[in-house]
Amino acid sequence: MKFFIDTANLAQIKEANDLGILDGVTTNPSLMAKEGIQGSEAVMAHYKTICELVDGDISAEVISTDFAGIVKEGKALAAIHPNIVVKVPMIKDGVKALKWFTDNGIKTNCTLVFSAGQAILAAKAGATYVSPFIGRIDDSSWDGIELISQIAHIYGTQGFKSEILAASIRNALHIVKCAEAGADVCTCPLDSILGLLKHPLTDIGLAKFLEDAKKFA
Ligand code: G3P
Repeated sequence: MKFFIDTANLAQIKEANDLGILDGVTTNPSLMAKEGIQGSEAVMAHYKTICELVDGDISAEVISTDFAGIVKEGKALAAIHPNIVVKVPMIKDGVKALKWFTDNGIKTNCTLVFSAGQAILAAKAGATYVSPFIGRIDDSSWDGIELISQIAHIYGTQGFKSEILAASIRNALHIVKCAEAGADVCTCPLDSILGLLKHPLTDIGLAKFLEDAKKFA
C-alpha cells in the first residue's frame, strides 16, 4: 500500500518525506485555505513547490464544476509538473472530464466518493485513483472501511484498473484497516502516520534495553 500525506503544509510534507516512506501528496481547496494560500497564481506556485519537495504523485484539485471549466483547469494544473494528478469531483461533468483526461493521457483522482456506485463510474471513466472518504462516512454512522472492502472486491472481480485511494483518514487504526481491506493507497494527516509508530511496550522495552546497556558500557 502506498502512503500519501493529505495536507498542503510544507513543514508536514517535509517531515513525512524525511521518514522515507512517502509516495505522494493530496491536497484540496480546504487544505490550501488552511495554509492561507489564496489566488490561482499562489495555488499553482504552491503545487510546484510540493512537486519539487516530493518525488511522487501530487493531487491538485479543480474548482470548476462544468466540463469545459474542469478540462481547462486540469490542463493548466497538469502543465505544472509531470507528477501532477488532476483531482476531479464525483459529479456528472466530473465523470465526463475524467474520461477526457484518461483519453488525453492525464492522470486523475476522482474525489468525494461515498458509494460503490460512484466508484464504479469513476473506474469506468478511467480514473487513475478513486478516493472514498472514510472518516466522513464514519461520521455519518456508515462504515467507511466496509466501503473500501466492497470497492476492492468489485474492482478485483471486474478487473478495473483504478487504484483505491482511501481518504479522510482520521487515525492510525484507519490506516491498518484500509490496508486489510485492500486499499492501494492511504492519504493521511501526518499525525495518523506518526500514530503507527506508537506502542507503550516499545517505549518500555527500549528504556529497559538502554538501562541494561549501561551495565556493560
Ligand atoms: O483527502 C480528503 C480529506 O482531506 C478529507 O478529510 O478529514 O476533511 O474528512 P476530512
